[in-house]
Amino acid sequence: MCGIVGYIGGKDALPILIEGLKHLEYRGYDSAGVAILGETLSVVKTQGRIADLEKKLKGKTFKGSVGIGHTRWATHGAPNDKNAHPHYSESKNIVVVHNGIIENYLELKKMLIKEGHTFRSETDTEVIAYLIESFYEGDLLKAVSKAVNMLEGSFALGVMSKDEKNRFVAVRKDSPLVVGIGKGENFIASDIPAVLPYTKDVIILENGDIAEVKRDGVNLFDLKLNPIKRNVQKITWSVDDAKKGGFKHFMLKEIFEEPHVIREAMRGRVNGDEIEIPELESDILKGINRVYFVACGTAYHAGVVGKYLAEKFLKIPAEAEVASEFRYRDPLVDKNTLLFVISQSGETADTLAALRLGKKKGAKTIGIVNVVGSSVSRETDRVVYINAGPEIAVASTKAYVAQVEVIALTILYLAKLLNKLSPEEEKRFANEFKLLPEKAEEILKQSDRIAEFAYTTKNIEETFYIGRNLDYALSLEGALKLKEISYVHAEGYPAGELKHGPLALVTPKSLIIAIDTYAPLREKTLSNIKEVKARGGKVLAIASEGYEKIKEVADKVFFVPQTLNELSPVISVIPLQLIAYYIAESRGLDIDKPRNLAKSVTVE
Ligand code: F6R
Repeated sequence: MCGIVGYIGGKDALPILIEGLKHLEYRGYDSAGVAILGETLSVVKTQGRIADLEKKLKGKTFKGSVGIGHTRWATHGAPNDKNAHPHYSESKNIVVVHNGIIENYLELKKMLIKEGHTFRSETDTEVIAYLIESFYEGDLLKAVSKAVNMLEGSFALGVMSKDEKNRFVAVRKDSPLVVGIGKGENFIASDIPAVLPYTKDVIILENGDIAEVKRDGVNLFDLKLNPIKRNVQKITWSVDDAKKGGFKHFMLKEIFEEPHVIREAMRGRVNGDEIEIPELESDILKGINRVYFVACGTAYHAGVVGKYLAEKFLKIPAEAEVASEFRYRDPLVDKNTLLFVISQSGETADTLAALRLGKKKGAKTIGIVNVVGSSVSRETDRVVYINAGPEIAVASTKAYVAQVEVIALTILYLAKLLNKLSPEEEKRFANEFKLLPEKAEEILKQSDRIAEFAYTTKNIEETFYIGRNLDYALSLEGALKLKEISYVHAEGYPAGELKHGPLALVTPKSLIIAIDTYAPLREKTLSNIKEVKARGGKVLAIASEGYEKIKEVADKVFFVPQTLNELSPVISVIPLQLIAYYIAESRGLDIDKPRNLAKSVTVE
C-alpha cells in the first residue's frame, strides 16, 4: 500500500502535491518523492516521511504546474532513497509513481536488461518506466496502454512525459485511484482526502480504466483505448472522515479492507493451480526436524494456526510459543530447527529477542512480517511479507488475516517441497485460495446483523470463546480482540476443556461464543454447546454455511461461507473482529487507541 497523487492546472504543482501526500501518509511513510514538470523536469525524493521530503525541498524553487507524487510503503526493495518513487527511464522522458505489486516484474526486468537497460533500484516499479519508454513514439497515452497490457499484478499509476506538458496519464487495476475534477485543474490520488481540499467532485476509477488528465478536462478509456464514461460523484464527507474512508474508525476500515488484503497476500504465490513461495529456496527444510512459531499477541495466535498446519502437512513436530516465554526458557533449538518469527511491525522487543536466541542456537529462521525493512525482516534468514499495508488501529485485524493466509501458503508450499502435498491437493487449495476474497466480502455483508447482535449484548461482563483445532486458535484471537477494545473479560478455551473448570463460571449471564467451522470436529463442539446451554449460558455460534443443525442448539448463529477446513481461519475471524468492534462501539470506547496499549511494543 502506497499513496500516489497527481496535479495539472494553473497553479504551482509542488504545494498541492505535498498537501495531497500528507493526507495519504497513513498509506505508508518509508519514503516520499515528487516529480514536477515545468520548463524542465525535476525529481526529488528521499527516504523517510513527507516532512523529510519538505526538508530536502526547502530553499529550492520548482516551477511547474504539472506533477506527480508518492509516499511509499515498501514491498520490493528496502526503504531507501534509491527505491523511493518517482522512478524514471534512463532518458528521464518517462516518470512513474506506482501503488501495487507487479508480479511479473522479474521476467520483464530480465527482458529489459537484455535490451540494454540498466536498473538503478530494486523495485518492481522501475520496469514500468522502462517499458513505457520502449513503447513511446510521441504519444504517452498509447505507450501507457501498450505497457500496462504487459503487466501482471496490481497497480495504480501516475505517468508523466517530459515531452508532454499538457497532460499526464493515470491507470488503475486492483489498487485504488480517484480523479478529482476541478475548474481549470484536475487531480489524481489513491484516496479521496488528498483531493478534498480542492474539489468535492471525484470519479472513482474502476479496474482497467485509463485516464488522460489535462488542465481543462479528463478523458477516460479502457485498456484498449476505447473511450468510456464514469459518473462524477459529489463527496460530502469532511477530510477527517474521508481519511477513514467514511468509516467511523480505522479498525472498521481495516476490517473492510480484508478482501483486498487476502488478494494481495496471495499475489505471485498462487499461480494457476500452483502454490509457490518464491522467497524460499527449495532445500530450506533440509535436515529440519522441529518447527517453532514465535510471536506475541495476535501474531502469536496466527502462530497457533501455523502449529496445527505444520503438524498436519509437514508431519514435523511443531510448537507455537509466546516470544516472551520462549526467550527466557532453554528451548530445544538447534541447526535442525526451523523458527517462524511472526510480527506485523517487525519491531516487537520480545519477538526480536526470541529470534536472536533462536539464531544463536543455530536455527534457520523465516520472518512472516508486514513492515518491509523492519528489524525482524532484516534479521531473519528469509522473509515472506504479508503485504497487508499499514495497520493504524492498535488492535490488529487485517494483519492477522494476512498472517494466517501467508502461513497457510508457506506450509502448503513446504509440504509440496517434501512431496507431502499431491498435485491434486495443491490444485484444490490453490483454487480455494482464489475464492477467499469473495467469501470475505460475503461475511462483511452481514455486518449490520452482527452490529445489531453486538448492541443487544453490550452489557455483558464475561465471555468465553470456545472451539476445537483451528477453531480453538480462532477462539484465542476472538477473545483477545474483545478484551483489548471493549474491556470485557474474555477467554479463549479449547471447547473440550470447558468442563474441566470454566464451566463452573457459566450462568445465565454468560455469553459463550462457539466457533464451529472445523468440520471433522463440529459434532464434538456441538455437544460442548449443549453442555453450556444446560447450565443456562447464552451461546452465539459461528458456523459454516449448511450446518443448519446448530440453529436448534445455539441462541444465535452467524454463518460463514464454506471453505477448506485448513483455510477457515482466514475468513472465520472476520465475524469475531466485527463482534469485538461493535461491542466496543456500542460502549462508546476509543476503539483505535484502547487504554494502556500501544501499536508496537518495543520494550519487553
Ligand atoms: C492485538 C495486537 C497485539 C500485537 C502484538 C505483536 O490486536 O495488535 O497483540 O499482535 O503486540 O505485534 P507485532 O505483530 O507487531 O509483533
